[in-house]
Amino acid sequence: MGKIIVMVGAPGAGKGTQSRLLAEHFGYPQISTGGILRDMALADTPLGREIRGLQASGLLVSDDVLGELILVRTSQPDCEHGYILDGFPRTLKQAQLLESLARQEDKEVVLVRVVVSHEALLQRLAGRRTCTQCGEIYNVYSRPPEQADKCDLDGAPLAQRTDDNPEAVNTRLTAYEESTAPLIDYYSNSGRLVQIDGERPVDEVYDRLISVIDSSESRGVRRN
Ligand code: AP5
Repeated sequence: MGKIIVMVGAPGAGKGTQSRLLAEHFGYPQISTGGILRDMALADTPLGREIRGLQASGLLVSDDVLGELILVRTSQPDCEHGYILDGFPRTLKQAQLLESLARQEDKEVVLVRVVVSHEALLQRLAGRRTCTQCGEIYNVYSRPPEQADKCDLDGAPLAQRTDDNPEAVNTRLTAYEESTAPLIDYYSNSGRLVQIDGERPVDEVYDRLISVIDSSESRGVRRN
């Protein structure tokens, strides 16, 4: 049975870093809702402008926009055997959509929360740099590139995300507490969420994730 791997965690917890590695390991596509929305925000349309404004200030984009985005993206052929959700769901309404999608597609949902302290999140977001070409993620403190401000993989310039400024970070962390924390309670209460210490080095977090995902069937992870 195909899997939907759901990475839950605060801004800066390492969802993107780990999703990229898991995508390579499992051969599943990484669906980063933040990344897709950043692409949509480039369009000079009312929707593009609305998304740009919300992302820049650190607020969540509406459930309606996210619902359509997810339905369109997950209906692509590369999602047939499974996919990794990086940044979705973030609200209870989004979680309900995921449940019905999993039922329809007859896929197993594996929910993993990467836990990182508030102080570490602030430092990670302040130090993050991303390749403007391939999206590889660096950090000036924990994973600096070999050459300053250049991607090790393709030499393209690195950039800081526009929502990694202190004001937007504050709004994003508040949005996480208000909208996503209830979702975590909901999943934890049903015993379905596996929590992982996200403050370990990247390769240790990755090893732990692989073992949790590989053992999900034997734990009897449910589809609803
Ligand atoms: P999104 O792009 O999803 O951002 P986010 O959730 O705020 O998460 P980040 O991408 O900031 O962090 P991450 O957990 O991926 O960490 P990373 O691996 O980069 O969303 C952006 C915006 O889009 C939202 O604010 C909202 O407006 C909108 N949006 C998206 N999805 C939405 C939804 N479902 N509903 C509504 N709106 C939505 O790592 C961070 C840094 O830490 C990096 O520098 C990395 O190198 C470093 N690092 C990673 N792991 C480690 C480690 N183990 N040790 C040390 N450093 C590490």
